[in-house]
Amino acid sequence: HLVASLEVEQSYIMIKPDGVQRGLVGEIISRFEKKGFKLTGLKLFQCPQELAEEHYKDLQSKPFFPKLIQYITSGPVVCMAWEGVGVVASARKLIGATNPLQAEPGTIRGDLAVQTGRNVIHGSDSPENGKREIDLWFKEGELCDWTPVQEPWLK
Ligand code: PPS
Repeated sequence: HLVASLEVEQSYIMIKPDGVQRGLVGEIISRFEKKGFKLTGLKLFQCPQELAEEHYKDLQSKPFFPKLIQYITSGPVVCMAWEGVGVVASARKLIGATNPLQAEPGTIRGDLAVQTGRNVIHGSDSPENGKREIDLWFKEGELCDWTPVQEPWLK
């Protein structure tokens, strides 16, 4: 169980192939933007088998592992890095429970998914894994460390 953190963290958030195929990319990104987190990395990407296996290496012995790898590599995913205070736990709350039928309404999985094996989105489960996964999915130069301008856009 993750407790609320006051630290600035990074989370690796990925829209899985079903989210892309179903046209949910804008809807999902919008929820993180509206919450107030900062997008520092974003790309559409066809994930190679080896990268999927490395990302999910802790699950190698699970019976669903081959199906999970097949699912994640079945079409392009949207890779994102999000930054903010407590972003890791907060993103997990926005995403909802692994099994979408147990995810609360109002969460991404609760509103948009039915099956665990088609649960539309991944979010890092700790700040350490957030860093590890961002390093794994993004190359140097693909991330932007930017500061929002202080002036109002409209006067
Ligand atoms: S476990 O068994 O407790 O380690 O699994 P859990 O932490 O709930 O989930 C780890 C990731 O595996 C995905 N998962 C599955 N994928 C396909 N089929 C089945 N049955 C399945 N069960 C779990 C789950 O969505 C987690 O992936 P991410 O990408 O983090 O959502």
